[in-house]
This record gives sequence, structure tokens and C-alpha cells, in this order.
Amino acid sequence: MDLSNRVAIVTGSGRGIGRAIALKLAEVGATVVVNDIGEAAQGVAEEIRAMSRQSLAILADVSSSSDVARLMETTKATYGKVDILVNNAGITRDQILVRMSDEDWDRVLNVNLRSVFLCSRAVLRQMIKQRWGRIISIASIVGVAGNPGQANYASAKAGIIGLTRTIAREVASRGITANVIAPGFIDTEMTQRLEEKQRQELMGHIPLGYPGSPRDVAEAVAFLASEEARYITGQILNVDGGMAGAWL
Ligand SMILES: NC(=O)c1ccc[n+]([C@@H]2O[C@H](COP(=O)([O-])OP(=O)(O)OC[C@H]3O[C@@H](n4cnc5c(N)ncnc54)[C@H](O)[C@@H]3O)[C@@H](O)[C@H]2O)c1
Repeated sequence: MDLSNRVAIVTGSGRGIGRAIALKLAEVGATVVVNDIGEAAQGVAEEIRAMSRQSLAILADVSSSSDVARLMETTKATYGKVDILVNNAGITRDQILVRMSDEDWDRVLNVNLRSVFLCSRAVLRQMIKQRWGRIISIASIVGVAGNPGQANYASAKAGIIGLTRTIAREVASRGITANVIAPGFIDTEMTQRLEEKQRQELMGHIPLGYPGSPRDVAEAVAFLASEEARYITGQILNVDGGMAGAWL
């Protein structure tokens, strides 16, 4: 796998799965734009530069059209193009449906789904012109299975699947692929917030018997971003220790 001469944007890559993806893409040669709303993005970009790869941190809220426009313009002005877009930024605001506020619904849909629409639209024209591109979006197995307390999150993740399959079909003839990775239970700050009882219960649903690491997701992203994966598009790849197979 060799991503030298490729420019990648990874949204929400200041920590967790996004950070692991940014580091992995850099490891296999890519120039990486580290996007986040938090200052941690700067540290990840520094880590990548220490690996003798090019990297730039761009603080931007990917649910905002003006921020996304700035993210793309700055990337193109600095590196000339975008070859790989990884839509990773995501949040949870869990609550059972009858108690879910309009704000929690809107915020999760905006950060987790609208962002994928905005970022994908922003990169596609130039990818079409260069006749090469990779769009990889991080959904979740709950986008297919549903999950009590996560109506907003599961709906957004299901939306990513429909959006990705549509993009895949719209631009397949232009050398661009679009795929989804659906992680199961990955050990990050997002899941460290769960109560111990919830963690143990989830663990009982993982045939491999342990939570995934951000690196497990990053390896799959690097493959889908590579030339070797050119014939794979419109797919959902579960990275879940067998969880969806045991659950669904
Ligand atoms: N951890 C899991 O078990 C798991 C499972 C399935 C799917 N996922 C998905 O993987 C992705 C990464 O999750 P994680 O566990 O690393 O979460 P995390 O909370 O550790 O990291 C998410 C990052 O996204 C950033 N972010 C949040 N809102 C943003 C915005 N509007 N614009 C730009 N950046 C923003 C955060 O600042 C943070 O750095 C998310 O899409 C999540 O839904 C995670």
C-alpha cells in the first residue's frame, strides 16, 4: 500500500479513531489535513510532520457550510488537491426517543450526516476532474441495527449509508469510490463515557471478546483509500469483532 502523492482530509482527527486514521494514512505516505473543532488537531499534525510527512491542522466545524468551504479552500491552496476524504467527525447525544429534544436531534444529524454531505460535495468536483478519488465515511453498526437511546445517532449513521451508496453510483464512471466503514465497539473517549455495566453488556455481544482499537478501523480505511481497493465501491465494511453478525 502506497499513498505517496495523495492528499487526504480526515475530519474529527484530533483524537480517537480519526487520529489513528490520520497517522495510518501518513505512515503509508499520504499528506494529511487534520481537521477538528479542538486544538488537539495541532498536536496530531505535529506528530505527522515528525514522521517526515506533510501535515496541516485546520480547525473547522464540519456541520457548517462556511467552515467546510474554508477547510477545502485552505487544503487546495496549500496542497493543490484532495484525493482522499475521510468523513469521521461524529458526536452522540443519547436519550430515549420520547425524551429527545429537537436540539439533540438536530445537532447529531448536523455533525454526523450533514457534514458528510457538505464535505463530499465540496471535494467531488475536483475529484471528478482528476478522475480519481476516495470517499470513506465512518458510520456505525447501529445505523443498520438501531440502538435504544440513539434514535438521532442511528438515523444519522443510516443516512451515511444511503448517501454513500448514492455517491458511489453517481461518480463510479469517474474513477471515484465511496465506501462506509461501520465500527462496532471501539475503545475511545466516546465509549469510555459509557457506564461499566453498559460496557460489560456490549462486550458480551462481541464474538472476538474484546473492544476494537482505533488502529483496527484505521487499517481498513487505509486499504479502502489505496489503489488496491479500486474495484470496491458502495460497500459497508463492518469492523466490529463479529458484533453485527451476532446481533442482527
Ligand atoms: N468509538 C466507537 O465505538 C465508535 C463506534 C462506531 C462508530 N464510531 C464513529 O467513529 C467516529 C469517531 O469516533 P471516536 O470514538 O473516535 O469519537 P471521539 O469523540 O473520541 O472523537 C471524535 C472527534 O470528532 C471531533 N468533532 C466533533 N464534532 C466535530 C465537528 N463538528 N467538526 C469537526 N470535528 C468534530 C471531536 O472534537 C473529536 O476529536 C465517529 O463518527 C463515531 O460516531 C465510533
